[in-house]
Amino acid sequence: MCGIVGAVGTTDVVGVLLQGLQRLEYRGYDSCGLAVHRGAPLADAPWPSERGLVRARSTARVAELQAQVQADGLRAATGIAHTRWATHGAPAVHNAHPHVSRGPGPDAAQRAPRVALVHNGIIENHEALRAELQARGYVFESQTDSEVIAHLIDSLYDGDLLAAVRAATARLHGAYAIAVLHHDEPQRLVGARAGSPLVLGIGSATDGPVPHYLASDALALAGVTDRIVFLAEGDLVDMALGRYRVVGADGRALDDAARPVRVVELGSQDVALGPYRHYMQKEIFEQPRALADTLEGVEGIVPELFDDHGIRSRAAWRVFGETDRVLILACGTSYYAGCVARYWLESIAAVPTTVEIASEYRYRDSVPDARTLVVTISQSGETADTLAALRHAQSLGMSHTLTICNVATSAMVRECELAYVTRAGVEIGVASTKAFTTQLAALFLLTLVLAQAKGRLSAEDEARHLRAMRHLPLALQAVLALEPQIIRWAEDFAAKEHALFLGRGPHYPIALEGALKLKEISYIHAEGYPAGELKHGPLALVTSAMPVVAVAPNDALLDKLKSNLQEVRARGGVLYVLADADTHITSGEGLHVIRMPEHYGTLSPILHVVPLQLLAYHTACLRGTDVDKPRNLAKSVTVE
Ligand code: M6R
Repeated sequence: MCGIVGAVGTTDVVGVLLQGLQRLEYRGYDSCGLAVHRGAPLADAPWPSERGLVRARSTARVAELQAQVQADGLRAATGIAHTRWATHGAPAVHNAHPHVSRGPGPDAAQRAPRVALVHNGIIENHEALRAELQARGYVFESQTDSEVIAHLIDSLYDGDLLAAVRAATARLHGAYAIAVLHHDEPQRLVGARAGSPLVLGIGSATDGPVPHYLASDALALAGVTDRIVFLAEGDLVDMALGRYRVVGADGRALDDAARPVRVVELGSQDVALGPYRHYMQKEIFEQPRALADTLEGVEGIVPELFDDHGIRSRAAWRVFGETDRVLILACGTSYYAGCVARYWLESIAAVPTTVEIASEYRYRDSVPDARTLVVTISQSGETADTLAALRHAQSLGMSHTLTICNVATSAMVRECELAYVTRAGVEIGVASTKAFTTQLAALFLLTLVLAQAKGRLSAEDEARHLRAMRHLPLALQAVLALEPQIIRWAEDFAAKEHALFLGRGPHYPIALEGALKLKEISYIHAEGYPAGELKHGPLALVTSAMPVVAVAPNDALLDKLKSNLQEVRARGGVLYVLADADTHITSGEGLHVIRMPEHYGTLSPILHVVPLQLLAYHTACLRGTDVDKPRNLAKSVTVE
C-alpha cells in the first residue's frame, strides 16, 4: 500500500528517497514518484542550474524511476517520494504522487510548482474541497483525492508552510499522512498525520547540520538511521536544516518527553530471496525457523511473556487476572488465526471468546465490557481497519488491550497495553504464511497464560504443552517434505475455476485460510466451509469439476467428517484429503489422500495449514500469476 519517504539534508538525498521506496515496495504499489527542491546548495556538488521543485513519476517499478532520475541527473538536498496504491483514480502517471499546486488561474499549467505533496490515506470530503478550489481557479491534473490537499495548502500559504499545512489539515475529513514541500522554503519539509502512520528519523553528521527524514514506516529508513520519533494522531512535524519541531493537534510544540527519540532495530531484516523463486515460497519454508524464533526464550508460562516489548511498563498479571472474556479483532488471515484461537481459549482456558472482523466491529453498535481483554492480531501492525477497531474498543472503555503482531515498531504494538511480538521476520509476499503460523503459536501461549490465570493449567499440562510447542519446528520440517505430493495436487487444481475447502472444529478456520490463500494468488474461486454445513447448501455446487479439499486430523470429529466426505463422493465430487496417519482414510477412485507425518493433537492447525499454503503457491505458479504481488492487493492495508 502507499508509502512515504522524505528528507532534508545538506548532501544529495535522492538515493535515500529511492532506497526508502525500495524498502516499501513489498507492501504493494502501482506507481511511484519523487519531488525534490533544487533551491538549496548541495555540500557535495555545484549549485544546480535549474532551481525550484522538480518531479519525476512512473507507473513502473521503483528501479525504473531510479533510472529516469539518474538519466536526468537529479540531485537535491530536500525531497519527498511516494509509492501509490490506487484508491481514487486509476494507476496512471498523472495520478501518481507527488501532486503539485501551481496556484490558481488559467495560466497555471505554464507556472512552476509552488507546492509538492505526497499523501497516504483517503480524504473523505475531497469532492467538496475540489469543487471549492475549482471555483477559486485551481486546475486539477489528476482524479485523486490527494491533489486537493496540495491546492488547499497553496490557497492557505502566507509565507509559513507549517501554518498553511495546519490550516489545511483542519479542513480534511478522513485519514492522512502527508509530506509537503514549498517552492519558497527550499530547506523545509512539513509532515502531518491522522489515521495513517508517519515517523521522523534523525540522522547523523560528523560536521554540519544533522539530516532529518520522514517515512510512513520506520523500515524505509533502515540503513539510514535507527533513531526514530513516532508521530501520534494529529501531530505535525516541521523539519528544517539541522532542526525539527513536533506540534500537537492543538498547535502546541511537543518536547522530547512527549515525543521521545527511540532507537529501533531495523538492520536485521532479511529481504534476500536466496534460492527461492518467490518470497511466498521462501516464507513458507522459513516457518520452522520463524516458529523457533517466536518461541525462543519461552521457558515457562508466565504473564510477562506479553509484557516485554519495552515501550511502556506493563501490568500483565493484573490484566490477565481481570480478564473474564476475550474479544479478538483482526482482518484476513489474521482473523482466521483468531478463529482458531477461539477454540483453544474456550476449551483450554474456558474464557468466553468472540472473534470479529475489524472492519465490521468498528462500525456496529456493540455492548462494551470493561473485563474483556481486546486482542488485536496483525502481521503489519498498521492495518487501518484493525487499528480503528482497537481505538473504537478503547473509546468504549475497554482499556485492557493486547496485540499479537510481527512488527515491534508498529502502531498496534505502541497502542496496546500488552503485546507479543512474533519473530517471523519481514514478510514480503502479499499472501501471509509465516505470520499466520507464528500468530497461532503466540495465541496458544495466550491461551495457556489465561488458563493459568483461571487455575486451569496444571504443572503437567504446562510441561506437556511446552514440549509440543518446542517440537513444532521439527514437525513442520516433516510437513514441508510433503511438497512433491502437493505439487501433484496443484497440477489438478491449476485447470479448475472453483474449489471447496472443508474442515471441522479448529480446522474449519484452516479450511477458510486454505481457500483465501488459493483465491488471492491463483485467482481460483475458493470457499471454506465447516464440513457439517455442506448439506445446508454448498453440496449443490459439488460436481467432478469442483475439487473438494478436506482437512482431516484424527480428532473427536473424524467420524463426522468421514460422513461428510461420503456425501461429497456420492455426488461425484473429487476429494483431496489431508489426513493424519492413523485416520484409515486411503486413496481410491476420486479420493486423493496425503498423509500428515504425525498426529499433532491441539496444535495440529499449525501443521495442517502448511500443505494448503503450498497447494495455493504451486497452483498459482502453474497458472503463471504474480505470486508475490497478486493483482489488486497490497501487503499492508493502511487505508479503509
Ligand atoms: O497485517 P495484517 O495481518 O493486519 O493484515 C491483515 C490482512 O490484510 C492480511 O492477512 C491479508 O488477508 C493477507 N493478504 C492474506 O494472505
